[in-house]
Parts: sequence; structure tokens; C-alpha cells
Amino acid sequence: MVSLSINGTTHQVDAPGDMPLLWVIRDIVGLTGTKFGCGIAQCGACTVHIDGQAARSCVLPVSAVGDKKITTIEAVGETAAGKSIQKAWLDLEVMQCGYCQSGQIMSACSLLGQHPHPDDKQIDAAMAGNICRCGTYPRIRAAIKVASKEGA
Ligand code: FES
Ligand code: FES
Repeated sequence: MVSLSINGTTHQVDAPGDMPLLWVIRDIVGLTGTKFGCGIAQCGACTVHIDGQAARSCVLPVSAVGDKKITTIEAVGETAAGKSIQKAWLDLEVMQCGYCQSGQIMSACSLLGQHPHPDDKQIDAAMAGNICRCGTYPRIRAAIKVASKEGA
């Protein structure tokens, strides 16, 4: 059994230690907002926060998490940065198909947690690992700027 803190709740999960965290979050705990894309840390669809830092859950063995706090898209809106980001995402109608967007939002929230008023270089560096096949990048960048102005 592995003990995990996810979105403020402790879960005891029956999973081998080398199982990717993404599998545990989606298939055992049942939180399906975090998406599977590539499975090899190349697309960002599976991004969650580990103690507030963006992490690719598809390549993170569940045994490596320990007692760190996991936050997923289902709860990130409870943070100040998450609230501002999600509002800006809706106001600017960032999404197209939506598949990449929970990962995009998680990376953007992590960025604002570290840099409340990021410049273009910081935005590019933080978001470079999140791929969007629909090409929503200009709106993602604009929404991050709107959220940062609103005092995230
Ligand atoms: S599914 Fe994890 S980075 Fe693509
Ligand atoms: S909104 Fe479709 S992949 Fe990003």
C-alpha cells in the first residue's frame, strides 16, 4: 500500500511502487481531469503539482512522491493563482478541443506561484513542455498575463 496526499485528502492505494503517478491518479483514485498524452514526459498533458511544482505524472513512480502534497486540476482552483488562471482561461476562451488544457493550466499556475508577474521569457520557459495540437499558444500567453495582472 502507498499513502498519498491528493488535493488535501490522504489516499491509501494498492499500487506497485513503480506504477506512474498518473495511472494511480486516474485509474485507482478516479480523478480523470489529468490526461494521458505521450507517456514519455514530452507533451505536458499529465502535469500535476508536487508541493506546488509542476511535474509530469506519467513518468513519476508513485514511490517517489513520499509525503509530498499532490494537487491536480480538480483542486487547483482553490489556490489564488489557480483561481485567477481559470478565470482568465474562461474570459479569453483559451480552449479548443481541451485535451491539453488541464496540463497547461497546471503549468501556468505553477509559474505564477514562482513568478507572480512573469515576463515573456519566463512564460516561454515554464510552458515550453506543454504541447497544444490546436495551437492555442497565443491565448495561453495572453491569459497568463491577464491572470498575473489580477494579482495572482
Ligand atoms: S503524458 Fe506525461 S508528458 Fe505526455
Ligand atoms: S486545446 Fe486541443 S490540444 Fe490544446
